[in-house]
Amino acid sequence: MSGEKPPVEICKGVNGLDKVVLREVRGSSAEVYLHGGHVTSWRNDHGEELLFLSTKAIFKPPKAIRGGIPICFPQFGSHGNLDQHGFARNRFWSIDANPPPFPTVSTNKAFTDLIFKPSEEDLKIWPHSYEFRLRITLGPGGDLMLTSRIRNIDTKPFSFTFAYHTYLSVSDISEVRIEGLETLDYLDNLKAKERFTEQGDAITFEAEVDKIYLGTPTKIAIIDHEKKRTFVLRKDGLPDAVVWNPWEKAKSIADLGDDEYKHMLCVEPAAVEKAITLKPGEEWKGRLELSAVPSSYRSGQLDPQRVLQG
Ligand code: BG6
Repeated sequence: MSGEKPPVEICKGVNGLDKVVLREVRGSSAEVYLHGGHVTSWRNDHGEELLFLSTKAIFKPPKAIRGGIPICFPQFGSHGNLDQHGFARNRFWSIDANPPPFPTVSTNKAFTDLIFKPSEEDLKIWPHSYEFRLRITLGPGGDLMLTSRIRNIDTKPFSFTFAYHTYLSVSDISEVRIEGLETLDYLDNLKAKERFTEQGDAITFEAEVDKIYLGTPTKIAIIDHEKKRTFVLRKDGLPDAVVWNPWEKAKSIADLGDDEYKHMLCVEPAAVEKAITLKPGEEWKGRLELSAVPSSYRSGQLDPQRVLQG
């Protein structure tokens, strides 16, 4: 055996919590905690961290981890009667040893399948039976892919809202621009969820933002000028995109440093405005794919092939 590390390794993380480490031969990696089914790290082949994780993140279940990619299910935000963002991010998930196959066969080796099923206690607060399967894959080029499959195994239909609450690591929030959401309608969480239409040419940041963009394209680019890096976010089954940065409100968030808002931006593929409804036996699939490419990327160049070719 060479000293090469395996593509998938289950080990102990902070506070002895179980985590899965994914590694790709060229050096990129990702880490997933079973607590929350939560991706906490995604590194490129230079070892640079691409996701934001708070230095004050608390790794003590049932508290959700601040940063990475929390899963918001079965409720996004305060759009319902449950606690903020539902409870999937607060629960222990399991390794799914025998997941149902995907329609397309993949040759990727660095992936893990997790499953979350409601406990008796969960059924008391949200009385619906389901199986939530999450596959997390690291692609050969270091891309990070998350696929959620939620199946109704109940005798009645149910509806839910959802988000991949993705915290991207950025050099300086004032130097970041989002492309793909210009001119769209959004619900403003800072103005009692009132609906507005985005007017500006480009989306940049100079104060707190908490918006749910509606009917968003499948590709969104987040351009970090200082780092000369562009995140290309692709999504499927998730029509909305939440954009959040707490700015000064970071001071009132116990597990976020006062100035850490400068180095994070949440762009969250979501289904919020219209809840997803599943009849008994039906399955919903929601997919997020993230890649980080050097910013030879220019404005208006949203074609991912051209982005990847630089
Ligand atoms: C965002 C919401 O998705 O998550 C914000 O739009 C919210 O309103 C933020 O403040 C963080 O939520 P939490 O529960 O992780 O502190």
